[in-house]
Amino acid sequence: MCFCTKITRTDRLVVVGIFCALLILALVKLILFSSEVPLNVPDNPRYQDASLSTDERVDNLLSYMTLEEKIGQMALVEKNSVEEIEDIKTYALGAILSGAGSKPEENTLAGWQKLVGNFKQTARESRLGIPILYGVDAIHGHSNVPGATVFPHAIGLGATGDVKLIEAIATATAEEIRATGITWAYSPNLDLPRDIRWGRTYEAFSDDPELTATLGAAYVTGLQAEYKDGEKDFILATPKHYVGNGAMVWGSSSNENFNIDQGTTEINEEKLRTTYLPPFEKAIDAGAMSIMVGLNSWGDTKMSAQKYLIQDVLKDEVGFKGFIVSDWYGVYEIPGGNYQATVTAINAGVDMVMLPFDYKGFIENVQKAVRRGEIKLERIDDAVRRILYAKFSAGIFDVTVHEKTDDSFGSLKHRKLARDAVAQSLVLLKNENNILPVNNNRSQKIYVAGGAADNIGKQSGAWTIEWQGVDGNWFNDGTSILAGIKEVAGGTHTIEFQEQGIFSTSTPKADIGIAVVGESPYAEGWGDTAQPSLNEEDLSIIENLKKVSEKVVVVLITGRPLLITDEISDWDAVVVAWLPGSAGDGVADGLFGKKPFTGRLPLPWPASIAQVPIETDGTTKDNSPPLFPRYFGVTE
Ligand code: BGC
Repeated sequence: MCFCTKITRTDRLVVVGIFCALLILALVKLILFSSEVPLNVPDNPRYQDASLSTDERVDNLLSYMTLEEKIGQMALVEKNSVEEIEDIKTYALGAILSGAGSKPEENTLAGWQKLVGNFKQTARESRLGIPILYGVDAIHGHSNVPGATVFPHAIGLGATGDVKLIEAIATATAEEIRATGITWAYSPNLDLPRDIRWGRTYEAFSDDPELTATLGAAYVTGLQAEYKDGEKDFILATPKHYVGNGAMVWGSSSNENFNIDQGTTEINEEKLRTTYLPPFEKAIDAGAMSIMVGLNSWGDTKMSAQKYLIQDVLKDEVGFKGFIVSDWYGVYEIPGGNYQATVTAINAGVDMVMLPFDYKGFIENVQKAVRRGEIKLERIDDAVRRILYAKFSAGIFDVTVHEKTDDSFGSLKHRKLARDAVAQSLVLLKNENNILPVNNNRSQKIYVAGGAADNIGKQSGAWTIEWQGVDGNWFNDGTSILAGIKEVAGGTHTIEFQEQGIFSTSTPKADIGIAVVGESPYAEGWGDTAQPSLNEEDLSIIENLKKVSEKVVVVLITGRPLLITDEISDWDAVVVAWLPGSAGDGVADGLFGKKPFTGRLPLPWPASIAQVPIETDGTTKDNSPPLFPRYFGVTE
């Protein structure tokens, strides 16, 4: 018996049908993933031609890129996680960052140049030679590097309210960043803090959206200023943290170690749009090409997953053409596991994902998602187009030796600028009998005390060398406040220092005792605290000083308003010096009358914790007046 069956017409049709379907599938796959077949790049590809428009260059480069190369551009990897430097080429990585405190083995200018130079050179050797962006938190000068000029933290700059000064500081910072070969800075900070218990209050200029918008735009302009030699080469700014950061509710943090940082922003959409969005719009108008999304949530959704706010509002409505970068581990804090979180964030409009620990998993996940159609190829192309646009615009394709060891790093010029900024940032809260500025017409005996008096680390605050800051004077040849006082007033007055304020009681009292006290450095949620106030040690230093001085001046080194309601009546004068950075002499300039007091509080100074949060219109939670309103400052 023959088991052969006759091949019928229907069978033939089925076979042909299956064949056609397979062919169509193969064609579809080929079209979809045609980028996986690397196209040969000519010797002088058009995208390397600086005379073409940025759009033309982006289009040309994109046409050569494989899917893997595109995904690589979307990865921002912490430098300590890079397993092998060759991975820059293998995975065509788009960007590297030094997270706070992540420095070269030899933490010097030369050490940074070598570290960054190696990464950059390796990227240049990749198939398409796309330069990497190297990013760093230069949030108050290039403060990661010993010897850099450390400017006041943003809250002090807010107190100056001086737009030109802020622009000049950003340009000076850009010059110092550039000296290390770095191309990208995670600043300015456009958060609007409304609760002094938040550990990031000092990173912001103010709680006033208008002032923040104005100073933020000036900072972007200054950082992205083109250089004197006319090269199109600037440090890319990154306004952060989009959006509503600063309006989180105490106790809502998603991080078990924190209270308010990384918490939930509980405001309605109208408030978000009218108050928190404008500083970002203004920064975009000033030329910002990358924006960092926050670690906060709005409603029950983390910012990195907020498609409505990122894609619909910022990109489609506002018209932001640059790229969105996520913050630290922010993407993986979206629920659902790393794969789902990645898909959600990229589909929400995140273009570049910050990857503190692992990039291979990220790359695999994105590839998988594209294959499954869960992330559309158009979304990948859009993200990469935005990233390349920023890279071309910043000039990093066209400048081969970026790290110029110019003499601007820590230069006298920058130190003078910092000193002026510090003097301008001082806010005089109280000045009984006009005790300040100190009368220089006669020689006076002056006692100086306090743990912040002779400590550049403390006066600089966190984000200085280390994430949580450092202690002492070893890392910077700036001036401590004590050194500044000696330099400015030592020729006229007798200056004596004892940290605890313990001076002989058998000699005549000092005419003036100056207590330089305040907060020790802290960063992010580690600075969340229920009662921001002076600690017992500081209070006893002031008491000690009072016993041996006719008058007492308290200089507050602090990242936020402190609760001083119960003590201020015992003090003759109070100066808020914020976190001035490496130019302690600027504080002395104010105290001894070389510069007038012009600073004003960039945010209200509450009388009690019952008053916080304070709304941006100045309304306190319990409707009672703050100790000092926003923009208060005794001026001469
Ligand atoms: C902070 C960002 C910072 C980033 C990179 C995060 O923890 O929230 O402000 O830019 O780290 O260091």
